[in-house]
Amino acid sequence: MDRDTMNYIVREQELIHNDLSTYLKRHEQKEMLRLLVAGSVDDGKSTLIGRLLYDSHLIYKDHLEAIQQDSKVFNTTEDEIDLSLLTDGLRAEREQGITIDVAYRYFSTEKKSFILCDAPGHEQYTRNMATGASHCEMALILVDAQNGVKAQTRRHSLIASIMGIRNIVVVVNKMDLVSYRESIFESIRQGYLAFANKLDIDSIHFIPISALTGENVVIPSTKMSWYMGGPLLNYLENVQPVNDRNLMDFRFPVQYVIRPNAFFRGYAGSIASGIIRKGDEVIVLPSRQKTRIKSIETFDGNLEEAFASTPVVLTMENEVDISRGMVLTKPNNVPVVGNVLEAMLVWMDNFPLQIGGEYLLKCNMQCMPVRIKSVRYKYNINELTRISSENLALNDIGRVELVLQRPLIYDSFRRNKAMGAFILIDRNSNATSGGGVILDQVAEKVQEKRYLSEEKSTVTTKQREELFGHKPATVWLTGLSGSGKSTIARLLEPTLLERGVHACVLDGDNLRHGLNSDLGFSPEDRSENIRRVAEIAKLMNDAGLVVIAAFISPYEKDREEASRIIGDRMIEVYVDADIQTCMQRDPKGLYAKFAAGKFKGLTGIDAPYEVPQNSALILSTDKESVEESLGKVLEMVLEMI
Ligand code: ADX
Repeated sequence: MDRDTMNYIVREQELIHNDLSTYLKRHEQKEMLRLLVAGSVDDGKSTLIGRLLYDSHLIYKDHLEAIQQDSKVFNTTEDEIDLSLLTDGLRAEREQGITIDVAYRYFSTEKKSFILCDAPGHEQYTRNMATGASHCEMALILVDAQNGVKAQTRRHSLIASIMGIRNIVVVVNKMDLVSYRESIFESIRQGYLAFANKLDIDSIHFIPISALTGENVVIPSTKMSWYMGGPLLNYLENVQPVNDRNLMDFRFPVQYVIRPNAFFRGYAGSIASGIIRKGDEVIVLPSRQKTRIKSIETFDGNLEEAFASTPVVLTMENEVDISRGMVLTKPNNVPVVGNVLEAMLVWMDNFPLQIGGEYLLKCNMQCMPVRIKSVRYKYNINELTRISSENLALNDIGRVELVLQRPLIYDSFRRNKAMGAFILIDRNSNATSGGGVILDQVAEKVQEKRYLSEEKSTVTTKQREELFGHKPATVWLTGLSGSGKSTIARLLEPTLLERGVHACVLDGDNLRHGLNSDLGFSPEDRSENIRRVAEIAKLMNDAGLVVIAAFISPYEKDREEASRIIGDRMIEVYVDADIQTCMQRDPKGLYAKFAAGKFKGLTGIDAPYEVPQNSALILSTDKESVEESLGKVLEMVLEMI
């Protein structure tokens, strides 16, 4: 061992022994990079990790001596120390007795701290790769210069991008075995880029290295003068990957209820995203009860505020019913509560996923039965094309539709990583069968090519506005049956007419007698119902009218679709009344009929209602009078038109 290495280790060791708090502080204040390392042992992964640690002087002395011994015993490399023994040895140690999915290795240089998520590279380890990826902000994809880009490289890159990793560094290893030739590096670079430009990735950086000789790992290479960039460690120390920590949407999935005695009741968990302050109003999902935060407690005392990924115990001002799996959030920013979703799934089970198959879905302390409704497509890994399929076999990646037995509280993964990833569990073996991310469902609507053109009206919007004396708008009232949508719609219509506003009501029950008489109440039929209504509202808006639409419209994705069709002339109003109030009112006798067993699939009872995320206005009709609610919508409409 050289003198520098020795000195560094001695200094660090002394600090650990004599002044642990300074040591920890120094490392704490450094930036942290969580890096997924994907590649197989054959690609030289263990050697690379060993080289990174060794050349940056991070191996402790006792460990090194052990490796020197082993290198002699195994005679794997002639004179040099076999650095792969370092990492493989660590893994073997850790795996003894317990099975772990991913090996995490922590190291720290003067500039930055690193967590390496070491995902084993063989096909059957796709699961580990997916688990690791969900925690990392950058992926290191290792390619053997002799073999170039392989199916496994492509698969890992696709999984990394699905798991939200936006930065990739492709490390072309074993350059020593191809005589450090630029042309080889260049053709790997081109080959990878041709594939990766179809992925959702912001930046890809390429570095040619030899982990065995150390060229371009920590020390700049003298053998590849054609390469203008710096060595790998230098790149990792300076790169600033996109920080996608979500501080906007407060979400707290309750992990445990803590009740040591009659005087204390707290809720333990880790803040999944967003920020919470003492005194903030919160709403409990799915029960929708509201309360305020009384205190934010931690091991080190109470906090005034806490951020994403902090473990805390929260106490509430009022006694509300909260149990494991419920989610605390803020009243004006709530996640989706729904039981139909689309997801990108990585399948990890030898037994293929089948349409109609039933599993358990686990997501943020929530666990419930789920049925596979359809497989929309799976990927051809090599060309990244979509192919239709009835199932997903081991290591397949595809888009599926899921139907949950109970509503799940979630955000789309794109919006909020922490609330949009899940795993599927085999109900018999209890093994993890797949992992997935929840998609924005409106994002991908494939439009068929049809030969249609558009006829433009010769009357302009402006002319219509002048004629009517106001702009058009659509007030979209959504809420449970009995929440008061129709009542408000029926009162708002004449109130607007009295003020010279040309308003007209579209109501669920009425439309279902005529135009939509072919539709029932399955999720698909409800979607179609809402789509048609939105198209009508758009036409009526184009004609200059103000539309008041009163529809349960229980699915977020359908309301989003409506808003896409109608455009920014639509305002969504959530008519909010708790289910008990709706049941008491029961203006159409629906809840009574349901109770008498006359039908199934009643919204809010055994069919889902996804609480709106982005309503412009919430009317709490169980707390305020009809006049108050009416006043609020009226004010909003008048302001808009
Ligand atoms: S939506 O879900 O597709 O938006 P919509 O508002 O058009 O529903 O229709 C709701 C009306 O249909 C209710 O007011 C009720 O009279 C009637 N209805 C009949 N069956 C159901 C059901 N299973 N769930 C909800 N409403 C139902």
